[in-house]
Amino acid sequence: MVLDECFQVSGDLCKIINNISILREQTESQSLSFGRGQQIMDKQNVPVITLDGPSASGKGTIARLVSQALGFHYLDSGALYRLVALAAMKRNTDVSDEHSMVDIARHLNVSFRDSSIWLEGKDVSDEVRAEACGEYASRIAQYSALRVELLGYQRDFRKSPGLVTDGRDMGSVIFPDATLKIYLTASEEERALRRHKQLMEKGINASIADLIQALRARDERDSSRSTSPLQQCEDACLLDTTGLSIDQVVSRVLNMYAEARKA
Ligand code: C5P
Repeated sequence: MVLDECFQVSGDLCKIINNISILREQTESQSLSFGRGQQIMDKQNVPVITLDGPSASGKGTIARLVSQALGFHYLDSGALYRLVALAAMKRNTDVSDEHSMVDIARHLNVSFRDSSIWLEGKDVSDEVRAEACGEYASRIAQYSALRVELLGYQRDFRKSPGLVTDGRDMGSVIFPDATLKIYLTASEEERALRRHKQLMEKGINASIADLIQALRARDERDSSRSTSPLQQCEDACLLDTTGLSIDQVVSRVLNMYAEARKA
């Protein structure tokens, strides 16, 4: 578009218009940062670590701790799908109504404050983590129009000094040029036990057998959908956390990141 306009003007003016246009784009995407010599650091230069993987593989816990260790920003992409789900559930929206899901996402009034999540001025951190919300989120996550609607919002989290993010399509679709891509997984039993522990800590009772069934169903839906399915992309490193402590996993990710930066 900028080039078409330039046909009308002289070479120098064309360069100025181009520069203004580039600057405007960068300002809008909040990617302007001035370092030594007032250099403009493009968003693409901001390092990103992506952690994708199946439900209850510990992605959220690890991503948060790694982001704290590095002083990076953190994006919990699953929370976005859960927030749209929660808002839709509160409005009794039919889960098959794709158009309404897109509309809800477009007007979503959310904020992430430290470790709490707010929807329309209310702290919904616990509600959004409920199994029913995750289940609903995984149903609406198959809508490509909804995924497109959330794409720019997710990419806006890429800010200096860096970003750690977790989800299903972070490395494959949202940040394909990430510095380090990890596919985090663990055995089904271990993931169910972790989810059980999380629920018990919140005073919610659940049987391990039911949790295994629920995880299986959700992973099956997430990996078999046609849009942005859960998958280990070719350039992602597999990290199986079965039998590892949280500290061990965090330190492995940090080592992998140190190696990736050298490459
Ligand atoms: O990770 P979490 O369990 O919070 O995600 C809830 C659901 O949101 C997932 O089961 C998945 O269907 C969907 N999701 C997704 N893409 C992401 C993150 C989550 O489709 N990047």
